Amino acid sequence: MKDSFELMISEEEIFDKIGEVASAIDRDYEGKSLTVISVLTGAFIFTADLVRRLNVPVDVIDTMQVSSYVGMNSTGELKIRKDLSTDIKGKDVLIVEDIIDTGRTLKLLRDELWSREPRSVRICTAFDKPSRRVVDITPDYNCFTIPDKFIVGYGLDYDGKYRQFKDVRIVRTDNE
Ligand code: IMP
Ligand code: MG
Repeated sequence: MKDSFELMISEEEIFDKIGEVASAIDRDYEGKSLTVISVLTGAFIFTADLVRRLNVPVDVIDTMQVSSYVGMNSTGELKIRKDLSTDIKGKDVLIVEDIIDTGRTLKLLRDELWSREPRSVRICTAFDKPSRRVVDITPDYNCFTIPDKFIVGYGLDYDGKYRQFKDVRIVRTDNE
């Protein structure tokens, strides 16, 4: 069994788009500071790139791990596997996500975070697959809207692999 790949988004395209998204965030949060919540594991590379392009002060970068996805198909099962280590009460929270697919993971997370009484919660995602949505959730910031393809790289994995690719590729698994 061997995986093959097709390039979807280049490193340069990602770099340029993050600059645009960071500028939008800077404008929207002028005079404020941010609590960034990176959704592990997939968002770790995007979070690192994004925060380094922001001018708005980032007071806290915390992480959370929420699972609702196995292999190539969403099971719809949601579980908080690693919680925050900081209190977000009264904070302006920016959730940084790798990809929004069905939206189940993020909806769970957003509802959970709202229950902790932050001042605001917004969502920034690297990739959005709106055609796959089963719950009503829209990112406030999105780098790339993509078709219904399974992608890897830039933090995104297939069974734990390929997160290290600097670009984004469509993965195909051939069974011979
Ligand atoms: P959702 O709850 O269906 O929105 O699932 C979102 C999660 O599924 C993401 O955070 C990813 O971990 C994973 N996921 C969804 N689509 C892809 C993909 O194309 N490649 C890799 N992981 C994906
Ligand atoms: Mg994720």
